Amino acid sequence: MNIIHTKDYNNMSRKAAQYLLDKIKHKPDMTLGLATGGTPVKFYDYLVRDHQQQDTSYKNITTFNLDEYIGLDPKDTNSYHYYMNKHLFQQIDIPQEQTFIPNGLADNLLEECRQYEQTIDHHGGMDLQILGLGGNGHIGFNEPGTSFNQETHIVELAESTRQANARFFQDLNKVPTQAITMGIASIMKSKEILLLVSGEQKKEALHLLINGEVSTEFPASILKKHPHVTIIADEKALADIHSSYYA
Ligand code: PGA
Repeated sequence: MNIIHTKDYNNMSRKAAQYLLDKIKHKPDMTLGLATGGTPVKFYDYLVRDHQQQDTSYKNITTFNLDEYIGLDPKDTNSYHYYMNKHLFQQIDIPQEQTFIPNGLADNLLEECRQYEQTIDHHGGMDLQILGLGGNGHIGFNEPGTSFNQETHIVELAESTRQANARFFQDLNKVPTQAITMGIASIMKSKEILLLVSGEQKKEALHLLINGEVSTEFPASILKKHPHVTIIADEKALADIHSSYYA
């Protein structure tokens, strides 16, 4: 895993955007895996700013989001559909039919999972997957204990995840208890992975990822087995990592 040190959240976000824009320049029709949550918000801001100023086009890009809550309407302001439209899709030139997010309101959720994975495979998997890191080591909504062999599936959200995400809802009771998520196996199919980590609240998780064993109890640890992972992290998240580990 290649680790890039940045000064703060803003610098992490800018560096990550530059990293992706460079990839898009080389492959304007790439298939891109996207993440939601607090971490990538500014990264998306930088992509939008670049689109407005430099005219980078997303007309030939296809995107797959990692996950979506079960039971939330795409118009619900807490759904990841809403998040993606607001922070990225409505502000760039990507055709909506090239943006894929699991449907958390599907009548047949198992079938939705199966079709989502099939669509990913049909596109040959992701060229680059953007990831955030959960405080408990989750990637996507793959909570501790999830098998590394899982593809897109339904998950029960860990209590710590619901609590961490309650900041976006009116209260904890409104946070859904289930989600559809790409599995670890879906994520590992990506040719390349870019993990963004920011803030003191992630320093323990980042330390475990870099220094711990590969274990389903810490899902992100599987990334050590992937041949092409880049971590862009800020100083606070890297506080417990020896500087010999990063550039
Ligand atoms: P966050 O979430 O970006 O809101 O901290 C990351 C994650 O849980 O994957």
